[in-house]
Amino acid sequence: MDFRLTEDQLSIQSIARDFAQKRIAPVAAEFDRSGEFPLENIRAMGQLGLMGIEVPAEYGGAGMDSVSYALAMMEIAQADCAHSTIMSVNNTLYCNGLLQFATEEQKHKYVTPIASGEAIGAFALTEPQSGSDATAMRCRAVKQADGGFVINGKKSWITSGPVAKYILLFAMTEPDKHARGVTAFIIDTGRKGFLRGKTEPKLGIRASATCEIEFEDYRVSAADVIGEEGHGFKIAMGVLDAGRIGIASQAVGLARAAYEATLEYARERKAFGQSIGSFQMIQAKIADMKCKLEAAYWLTLRAAFAKQQAARNGGRFSTEAAVAKLTASEAAMWITHQAVQVHGGMGYSKEMPLERYFRDAKITEIYEGTSEIQRLVIARNETGLR
Ligand code: CAA
Repeated sequence: MDFRLTEDQLSIQSIARDFAQKRIAPVAAEFDRSGEFPLENIRAMGQLGLMGIEVPAEYGGAGMDSVSYALAMMEIAQADCAHSTIMSVNNTLYCNGLLQFATEEQKHKYVTPIASGEAIGAFALTEPQSGSDATAMRCRAVKQADGGFVINGKKSWITSGPVAKYILLFAMTEPDKHARGVTAFIIDTGRKGFLRGKTEPKLGIRASATCEIEFEDYRVSAADVIGEEGHGFKIAMGVLDAGRIGIASQAVGLARAAYEATLEYARERKAFGQSIGSFQMIQAKIADMKCKLEAAYWLTLRAAFAKQQAARNGGRFSTEAAVAKLTASEAAMWITHQAVQVHGGMGYSKEMPLERYFRDAKITEIYEGTSEIQRLVIARNETGLR
């Protein structure tokens, strides 16, 4: 077993770290306060290849592997979770889905502008009444005589929804067939019948714009179907397996930011005549933080590696992705919580980034499958029972 990173992996890690520390970290608190979408930074990230890391160069991406993607996500998330959310949805939920299931023509048309960062992509599965129970979706796509579809319905919690040019949408084409009646479509948000709702006011990742979207007699042609009709649910689940590695990476980056801030504070802050880091209760927290962080990091890279192997040899990596996401998101929540505690009043103040890390961490336990869904996926796969 060789744990060393390749030259390419070290290179993208260094490019992402440099951009994150120079361009994102100094403005992260301000974007969190205003909730403004960081368009200029996202465009610049696109120019560096960070918005389509695994996308081959012929479709506008950096053509790198899944471990490279995970490493770059960690660096961006360490500076700001909101930037990494936009990056993650663009890379995995949108580009990765189309790369796997779209035709050549669809890839050139719909992946290239998004992977290059020229425009933003989004993914629409969740609805107001269907989150974890994804097959309970009501958004309907009704087939027309010419082979096209007319779409009606709502989707909610759409990351980058307010700014996305294209959206990978999942809608029911044959409701009686439940999971086998879902079809994937590409949506051009500039077309008639596409409406955006209000931007959600959120606890964390405030600069990653999220909104409800609605379809009113929105027409798509047969050329806008992604993959086979009725295969949409499997496409969504496969795409989410990859997406969960992105969220695990995000959680690792965020946890690392909180951990490093805590180490520094524990060395510098004095109480009772000594650095607080010399007290056993603080030392125990630091040791537990370090263990959880290391476990999350390595499980995330293992999941990314499993995805690479699956791309070569076939098969799924659902368990590895769910194990990584569950471990990393719960580590991020615990580590940011402890980091606030070690910082005391300063952890609770907006003068320091700790309270933002704490707020941002929560979403990693919720989106792209809650912790409960990750446990369900792992246990089902392990036991073979349902
Ligand atoms: N890959 C490929 N196919 C898969 C799959 C996977 N990972 N998981 C399931 N399938 C297939 C099954 O094999 C089955 O196929 P057959 O019909 O041929 O047998 C079909 O899909 C249905 O599977 P299940 O019976 O297991 O489906 P279920 O209704 O029991 O649901 C679930 C399974 C795991 C609970 C699933 O609904 C799920 O993951 N829910 C969570 C949804 C989620 O993560 N939402 C997040 C939204 S995205 C987001 O957060 C937005 C953002 O912007 C960041």
